Amino acid sequence: MELVIVDSYRELSLRAAAHVAALLRRKPNAVLGLATGSTPVGLYQELVRLHRQEGLDFSRVTTFNLDEYWGLPDDHPASYHRFMQENLFGLVNLRPENTHIPSGTAENVEAECERYEEAIRRAGGIDLQILGIGQNGHIGFNEPGTPFTSRTRVVDLTEDTRRANARFFPSLEEVPRRAVTMGIATIMEAREILLLASGKEKAAALAAAVEGEVTPEVPASVLQTHPRVTVLADRAAAAGTRRLAV
Ligand code: PGA
Repeated sequence: MELVIVDSYRELSLRAAAHVAALLRRKPNAVLGLATGSTPVGLYQELVRLHRQEGLDFSRVTTFNLDEYWGLPDDHPASYHRFMQENLFGLVNLRPENTHIPSGTAENVEAECERYEEAIRRAGGIDLQILGIGQNGHIGFNEPGTPFTSRTRVVDLTEDTRRANARFFPSLEEVPRRAVTMGIATIMEAREILLLASGKEKAAALAAAVEGEVTPEVPASVLQTHPRVTVLADRAAAAGTRRLAV
């Protein structure tokens, strides 16, 4: 695992975008795994700038998002479908048919989850998975205690995750209690992983993930066993790691 510590959120975003752009230039038909939440917003802004000003081409790129809230229609203001449309998909030349997000409203959720896994396989697997990290160490919506063998499925959200995400909803009560998420085994099959962490709220989780015991209690700690992971953290998020403590 390579830990790269940068001074600011802006630098983290620019570095992450440069990492993605380098892959797309090397492999124009790359398959990207994408994340939502506050952390990747700056990455997406920079990718949009690279597309508009430097012609970064997404026309042959395929994307798979990590997760979606269960029960939210695609056009709900807080859905991850809307988030991706507003932050990336609507702003670059990705083909809509090449973008994938689990449905939060499928009638047969098991079939939807199996279809999602199959679509990733048919695309040839994920070349680069972007991840955030929850304050509780989750990746995707794989909360503490999730088996490392888990695959795409419906999960219950912990109360701390619901509280952390309440800022996107009118009230805590309206934050869904469940979500569809890629599993940890699904994420670990990506050929390369780029985890982004910003802010002091992430410091404890990040230190546990990169330097602690590999345990399902800290889902992100599984990344220590992946052959190709880069962790990009700003100083606040890295403050708990030995690298900054010395
Ligand atoms: P955030 O979410 O980027 O909004 O902090 C990260 C996560 O919960 O995985």
